Amino acid sequence: MHLLEPTPLGNLALANRVVMAPMTRSRADANGVVGDMTVAYYVQRATAGLLVSEGTNISPDALGSPLTPGIYSPEQIVAWRRVTDAVHAANGVLFLQLWHTGRVGHSLVRGGALPVAPSAVAIPGQKHFTMQGPMEYEVPHALTTDEVQHTVLDYEAAAQNAREAGFDGVELHGAFGYLPNQFLVDASNRRTDRYGGTVENRSRFVIDVMERLVAVWGSDRVGIKLSPTIPFNGMTDSDPLATFGYLINQLNALPLAYVHLMKALFPLDAFPTWPKDAIATFGPMVRNRLMVNGGYTRDTAEAALGGGAELVSFGAPYIANPDLVRRFGLGSALAAPDRATMYGGGVHGYIDYPALPADTTERS
Ligand SMILES: Cc1cc2nc3c(=O)[nH]c(=O)nc-3n(C[C@H](O)[C@H](O)[C@H](O)COP(=O)(O)O)c2cc1C
Repeated sequence: MHLLEPTPLGNLALANRVVMAPMTRSRADANGVVGDMTVAYYVQRATAGLLVSEGTNISPDALGSPLTPGIYSPEQIVAWRRVTDAVHAANGVLFLQLWHTGRVGHSLVRGGALPVAPSAVAIPGQKHFTMQGPMEYEVPHALTTDEVQHTVLDYEAAAQNAREAGFDGVELHGAFGYLPNQFLVDASNRRTDRYGGTVENRSRFVIDVMERLVAVWGSDRVGIKLSPTIPFNGMTDSDPLATFGYLINQLNALPLAYVHLMKALFPLDAFPTWPKDAIATFGPMVRNRLMVNGGYTRDTAEAALGGGAELVSFGAPYIANPDLVRRFGLGSALAAPDRATMYGGGVHGYIDYPALPADTTERS
């Protein structure tokens, strides 16, 4: 199995096993509508076997960060259709990442409304970026059971909108401390209804959502991203092995496109009981296609494909290397991304990273 060889994903034909990881770039307008820059951005990267879009808000309630796009209004759907049409014309395949930030937000970016979460527990020890500067996290509104079920329906509606917008599939953002992750982890979920308490109950929200997404999209068109051992945003579970082991087993019963596992990019010395390597621990539990992520290079990606992964996603390398697949093929050096233009701004640092000249024949 090689990184640059074609592979089927259900009835989709991926040109290679290189995936562009979802990346928030904060270049939508104030109504969460993407524009021409975003069309160009994804088209420039369409040689990836699969592109996963930036996290995209499923409803107004899902919004946590300014200038991030949505998939709930007619204008947003029409705007995304322009992206998907252009990517398809470039022979690309594009999934939409469905995002609900839950408590990772601030009333200042939500028209005064408090963020929502499984429980009224604020994120400890971090601040949130707002247009007025970094702010302490607020104690979120704890969703009622009815509101939880309504949120599941918001995901279903967003999945339908993603079909209308011409995407090839959807990925649930279940990683990095956002709403689905907040339900899974016992530090953020103190509920006493059927969505909290036992591992089964804490997994119910994610399973309910995934079942709805598969009902809308069918087999091989729905993925999920998980980061079982990333403590960022207060995601300190008392037993990640039990929590994510149970969840992955339940996900094995669904006909998913893939399970996207992100590993921690820093040592976990503060959590001595946690698995040291999320991919080594959880990867073998996945019966669906396994996509791995987190600091991969061309060579470590090839090694991962030999070790059970079928797809490898690349985040930061895709920012500054729109032709990453070609650079991997040539063994070329990679350009370094500029951190200052990662989030927000205009074309600079977004669509002005050059591809290699057409006549480059460099080898490693
Ligand atoms: C600028 C930036 C924005 C990101 N936004 C998202 C996002 O919207 N959704 C998500 O699941 N991960 C997001 N990530 C994480 C990446 O998808 C990926 O997991 C991470 O960068 C590690 O992969 P890498 O080492 O190949 O960069 C983001 C990363 C970066 C650098």
